[in-house]
Amino acid sequence: MNVPLQHIRARRTVLAVPGCSIRMLEKSKSLDSDQVFLDLEDSVAPLAKTAARENVVKALNEGGYGSRIRSVRINGTGTQWCDEDIETILAGAGHNLDSIILPKVQSVEDVFWLVHRLAQWESSQNIELGQVSIEVQIEDALGLINVEVIAASSNRIQTIIFGPADFMASINMRSLNVGAQPSGYTEGDAYHYALMKLLVAGRAFGKQVIDGPYLEIKDLEGLALSSNRSAALGFDGKWVLHPDQIELVNEIFSPTQEEFEQAELILQAYEYHTSQIGGQLGAVMLGSQMIDEASRKMALVVSAKGRAAGLVSGQQFEVGK
Ligand code: GLV
Ligand code: MG
Repeated sequence: MNVPLQHIRARRTVLAVPGCSIRMLEKSKSLDSDQVFLDLEDSVAPLAKTAARENVVKALNEGGYGSRIRSVRINGTGTQWCDEDIETILAGAGHNLDSIILPKVQSVEDVFWLVHRLAQWESSQNIELGQVSIEVQIEDALGLINVEVIAASSNRIQTIIFGPADFMASINMRSLNVGAQPSGYTEGDAYHYALMKLLVAGRAFGKQVIDGPYLEIKDLEGLALSSNRSAALGFDGKWVLHPDQIELVNEIFSPTQEEFEQAELILQAYEYHTSQIGGQLGAVMLGSQMIDEASRKMALVVSAKGRAAGLVSGQQFEVGK
């Protein structure tokens, strides 16, 4: 069942917070990430799941997340925990929640399970359908080959997220270093196919696309490599696991001031030149570059990312310059 999609808010950094860590649940409210997700899945041991649900409900109801997107990652549909996760979270804190992250999505059936749960809860509360959105995490071979139909399956889905650790395990990648290139692989980028496939599927159906975590917390150089790889392709943001990763990831997923100014200049110049007074021209020179309608579209992307990152432009296009 498709529902009206709320405006999708931009996220560059998505902070993972284990639901079993009361200290991190509290601390996450003061860190500079665009989204926090309170985890009930793999960062919580099986014996700690019940307590984690209670901690997460309490943290959400206490509030204090400001403008951060508030999400909960429940356990996957194949587990013994998923039903109780979604029931407890919706009944306890459904009104203080923006999205549910569904991990290990392999097929549209996984999505439909959650779509129905959310719709039932929303109608029981007499609130607008679509209030709580879905973020699907693709992290194995089956999920990857099905990602196009998964992305198309519901307009409640706002983001497609890559799960590199589970994905590496799923395809038997010969490495224990999540997000880094496997040693011995010297030709190109071992993650390129998965990243690009997710990105194309996401963009085809109007979703944001988010890269997964980099696990070597102290290795900021490796984090930069991994972040630049997906940011350069066009990913919207990346998960972070530790406060020390936030600043770098925010920076990498935001345009530089110079890129932002150039995008603003292209938009202003293109608007002028295509207008009647500007000569109704479709393709013109801006400095040494030829710009046309496709340039405008590219500039719109950079401009939107810059604005979302809080950049301000002093750019003023002048005819003849
Ligand atoms: C995250 O869930 C991952 O598997 O990388
Ligand atoms: Mg995973």
